[in-house]
Amino acid sequence: MSTEWDLQICCMGAGYVGGPTMAVIAKMCPKIRVCVIDLNQAQVDAWNSPTFDLPIYEPGLPEVVKESRGRNLFFSTSINEEIARADIIFISVNTPTKTQGIGAGRAANIKNCELCARTIAEVSTTNKIIVEKSTVPVRTATAIRRVLQCNDKGLQFDVLSNPEFLAEGTAVKDLLKPDRVLIGGSQSPEGLAAAEKLVKVYANWIPREQILTTNLWSSECAKLVANAFLAQRVSSINSISALCEATGADVCEISRAVGMDARIGSRFLQSSVGFGGSCFQKDILNLVYLCETYGLDECAQYWNQVILMNNYQKKRFSEKMVSKMFNTVTGKKVAILGYAFKKDTGDVRETPSMFVARDLFEEGAKIHVYDPQVKREDMWQEMEYTCNMSPAKTPGLDEAIVTAPDAYSACSGAHALATLTEWDEFKTLDFEKIYKSMAKPAFIFDGRNILDHDKLRKIGFEVHVIGKPDPAAFTDL
Ligand code: UDX
Ligand code: ADP
Repeated sequence: MSTEWDLQICCMGAGYVGGPTMAVIAKMCPKIRVCVIDLNQAQVDAWNSPTFDLPIYEPGLPEVVKESRGRNLFFSTSINEEIARADIIFISVNTPTKTQGIGAGRAANIKNCELCARTIAEVSTTNKIIVEKSTVPVRTATAIRRVLQCNDKGLQFDVLSNPEFLAEGTAVKDLLKPDRVLIGGSQSPEGLAAAEKLVKVYANWIPREQILTTNLWSSECAKLVANAFLAQRVSSINSISALCEATGADVCEISRAVGMDARIGSRFLQSSVGFGGSCFQKDILNLVYLCETYGLDECAQYWNQVILMNNYQKKRFSEKMVSKMFNTVTGKKVAILGYAFKKDTGDVRETPSMFVARDLFEEGAKIHVYDPQVKREDMWQEMEYTCNMSPAKTPGLDEAIVTAPDAYSACSGAHALATLTEWDEFKTLDFEKIYKSMAKPAFIFDGRNILDHDKLRKIGFEVHVIGKPDPAAFTDL
């Protein structure tokens, strides 16, 4: 190890998790050399962009990268060299749900993790600590450990699990001030020593009592369970939103009343068009698959229902749009405001907007999408991966789904607009101007409950909101 540095860390995978996590470690630990490596040259080039035009949009991240890049933070494709010099190697590669073979549609594919382990075993010349950062099925550490143990160089590899709890859009804040850091390791003397080494890294800025150490399996499982619980809250409130629309109750009032119970808490009770993102669905499917594997069918069905409810919510939204617009959207222009799976990110993985866009496309609508951060090529890539639809294989798709440069052009001439991501800028749009430019009757479908509905109705819009009663149908409220 170089004497210049206290420690050398390398992270395999420069994506939504690896990039921000390592940038914050580098910021908070100037005496640790941190290098993020990736197979994808374009991705690495973007992290090294002279203008800090980073490959992911994350508030506050360019500033953090600016502070450390070139000092103790590096991005590189020199995978073998960086692995060879590192003391600690994080594996932060993508582990998408399997699309074929055993467990297809449910189990996570850990192919990329295994490949990382094989590369590490091949190129290492010194002992290493390997840290699983990617969300993985429980007991993946065993697979990684076995691959590493096959090395014939007599090297020692200690495998730790250190799941990431950052949420996109608030990643920097979450990393700087996490609720907790979880480190799982083998309970052998070597395993405990490896965990302690990683604890010391985080202890540079996180109070010790917030750094939990557990056995490997608890750590892997806790990550899945945390995401399952969060998603379950969203599905629970979304199920109530349907009841509210049917009965005249208001889901926001219910969330407020229920969330003020300290035992329940107020967060993650925001009813929406459904949850998206790379984690929730994948992790629950993973949990379901695990339960099934161990013959726990009732447990599997219980968690699977969280996903079914989410699918129902997305479908319910697009069906409501069609039914309110006189049962047809064929040939009608419809504006979709917001395509990212939540605000303050450009990430479109599993975004509910995609499912609504798909349903409207199948109904023959002309869809004009505006999102401040989403790139058109990312929309297509995700649509191909998740819906098996693309401009190349789906006739008419390229012409039917248009990306607009701003909200006003997306809405001009449209019969309806739907807010599907809660971007702040949508709250302050000039809706008088938008109303004048739209076909009449002009519909608004607020899938995030972010707009001033009374004001919009006064302007002349017909407004439908997730979880709120339609005033025309409930005159006695
Ligand atoms: C999640 C976990 O929060 C994080 O700890 C983990 O590391 C990764 O997965 P992320 O997917 O980035 O993070 O975003 P999150 O804020 O959890 O939102 C997930 C989805 O739920 C989004 O589509 C969001 O819009 C939706 N959501 C969230 C709601 O619909 N209502 C809510 O009240 C909260
Ligand atoms: P996450 O949200 O988990 O961070 P991303 O898809 O954003 O997932 O990022 C994962 C990154 O891992 C991608 O940039 C991909 O190129 C990279 N990657 C995948 N396999 C390997 C590997 N074997 N070695 C290095 N990087 C890899």
